[in-house]
Amino acid sequence: MDIIRVAIDGPAAAGKSTVAKIVAEKLNYIYIDTGAMYRALTLKALDSSLQLGAEQPLVDLLHHTDIELKQSENGQLVLLDKADVTAEIRSQKVTNNVSYVAKHPKVRIEMVNRQQALAEKRGVVMDGRDIGTHVLPDAEVKIFLVASVEERAKRRYEENVKKGFPSDLEELKEEIEQRDLIDSKREAAPLIKADDATEIDTTSLSINEVAEQVLTEVTKVA
Ligand code: C5P
Repeated sequence: MDIIRVAIDGPAAAGKSTVAKIVAEKLNYIYIDTGAMYRALTLKALDSSLQLGAEQPLVDLLHHTDIELKQSENGQLVLLDKADVTAEIRSQKVTNNVSYVAKHPKVRIEMVNRQQALAEKRGVVMDGRDIGTHVLPDAEVKIFLVASVEERAKRRYEENVKKGFPSDLEELKEEIEQRDLIDSKREAAPLIKADDATEIDTTSLSINEVAEQVLTEVTKVA
């Protein structure tokens, strides 16, 4: 089978990372969670008390920031300047602020460069918001996952309950809607389906059914 690149985009909590991980494992490809990179920078910016509305300080910070996505036995670890921040980047504070960091064009240019470098060597499954449109515009497979906001909030809620995190369904729905709004309305590389992407509505599908559909798209080109 040829080595190919799989781009998976879509709104918040549409199941992108879960599906991407399954597909990467099946194909023995690397999985790159680009959202984790924006989250790591957001965490560092918040810890440094940076004003998230100002672009240049964030760009300067990023230039002095090492973000590594490391495969481990327990899944992918996110290392920020060598420290494990895998759990911390999922905090409510980071989630509520990440879209304000990700909207800056110069931050995105640097992130996209790093992401493209990660995808150079071998087969990848990469998930995010602009993978099919900007990061890997020539990706052999492009998927755009969607689901109703109610279903996405419900899935996140159930995930939180399983992990023992306190959670409020209505709040989750509002946070998801707010993030989608900022991500879709920004000028630089907004969340949008690439013209040549295959859209999959996951609202009434299981994770495995979605992964199967993505793998079917892969077999068409591989
Ligand atoms: O995928 P995840 O929900 O972790 O992404 C967090 C945020 O990072 C998104 O809401 C978006 O603001 C930003 N992001 C982005 N472009 C990507 C991946 C994530 O702007 N390729």
